[in-house]
Amino acid sequence: MKVAILGFGTVGSGTAEMLTKNRALLKAHAGEEVEIKYIVDIRSFPDSPFADRIINDFSVVEKDDEISLVIEVIGGAKIAYDFTKRALLAGKSVVTSNKELVATHGVELLSIAKEKGCYYLFEAAVGGGIPVLSPIANDLSHNEILEVSGILNGTTNYILTRMFSSGASFEAALAEAQAKGYAEADPTADVEGHDAARKIAILGALASGKLVSADAIHTEGIRAIRAEDVKAAEKIGCSIKLLGRYLRTESGDMFLLVAPFLLPADSPLSGISDVYNGVLVRGNFVGDVMFYGRGAGSEPTASAVVADVDKIARKAAYRPAFTAAEDVPTEFSYFRARRYVVVEGADAAAIEIIFGETEPLASEENAFLTAEMSEKGFSERAKRLEACGGKIVSHIRLYR
Ligand code: HSE
Repeated sequence: MKVAILGFGTVGSGTAEMLTKNRALLKAHAGEEVEIKYIVDIRSFPDSPFADRIINDFSVVEKDDEISLVIEVIGGAKIAYDFTKRALLAGKSVVTSNKELVATHGVELLSIAKEKGCYYLFEAAVGGGIPVLSPIANDLSHNEILEVSGILNGTTNYILTRMFSSGASFEAALAEAQAKGYAEADPTADVEGHDAARKIAILGALASGKLVSADAIHTEGIRAIRAEDVKAAEKIGCSIKLLGRYLRTESGDMFLLVAPFLLPADSPLSGISDVYNGVLVRGNFVGDVMFYGRGAGSEPTASAVVADVDKIARKAAYRPAFTAAEDVPTEFSYFRARRYVVVEGADAAAIEIIFGETEPLASEENAFLTAEMSEKGFSERAKRLEACGGKIVSHIRLYR
């Protein structure tokens, strides 16, 4: 099988290296040699061992009938969208790590692939090297999926881990993540939770059959987390993790959200540190299943890309099946959680009147845990607090 790689960046070069280094292993498993015929990039790489295969013009790939599979690792939803669509329309299967493209145009691209009798697979788009989409779509598909909760972003998990291990502020931990090359120069998509929102949109699509636009998902990042919140979490035996969550309640409500959560030490996601990712999947018969591993980086992501290549080569590929849903089926205002809250400008009596019974915390003045309440209930209380001159300094939901 002859393939083309689109994009020779971090993931593209890792994929080329893996296809070369593990060539014999892949051939033995897939029953067919996987050969890189082209690598398409706007840049030239004269010193690369793949220099003889690097071209600038995608239409060469598009017109070459020998190419049955295209690996799109350009990223973004512009050129990558155009090339993916053209490759699929030409009857070539496409494998990608591009979460933005899958979250934005996944439904359309899957439908073209089906119509043309080829495949569109994207294991590498979520959780880097961790096989999680294929297990949900295949091995767990006979379960009702009640929950998918994941630490889906390595950069923010590294920042939060450093805030806990060294007491660093968010800014200091972010600077450290940038110095180590984990965080992008512009870390907005990571720290504001947008990257995790795209990933939970994809996980939720596989779990529910509906792809919700990432823009419609309630998304909070980690910028507002203070060193004081980290100390308070430690005092009550919790860690703080940015989670992407898909939840289906017994009454049929369905929530999708991205937000920091306080996780008790006995939660399986609590101990996942540094740049690692972890995904908990709860099925109605299987119970909890955990996936853990390296969620980013050249080699782990290449491993997931090649896993999809292998499936297609050995004719064992599956078709992820979901349709489009503009909105999250249940309004977020009904989502219920207990919360850690810190207020200022209000005394204990006012807090009791507004929040009812609370569990005071010793970490800071006016820090407490609330009873379980809806988002709507919490916003109403925050407004009442403001009306009497107080304000919420910090608040984080408790995971359950
Ligand atoms: N910026 C992402 C992360 C890369 O930190 O997890 C992998 O999607």
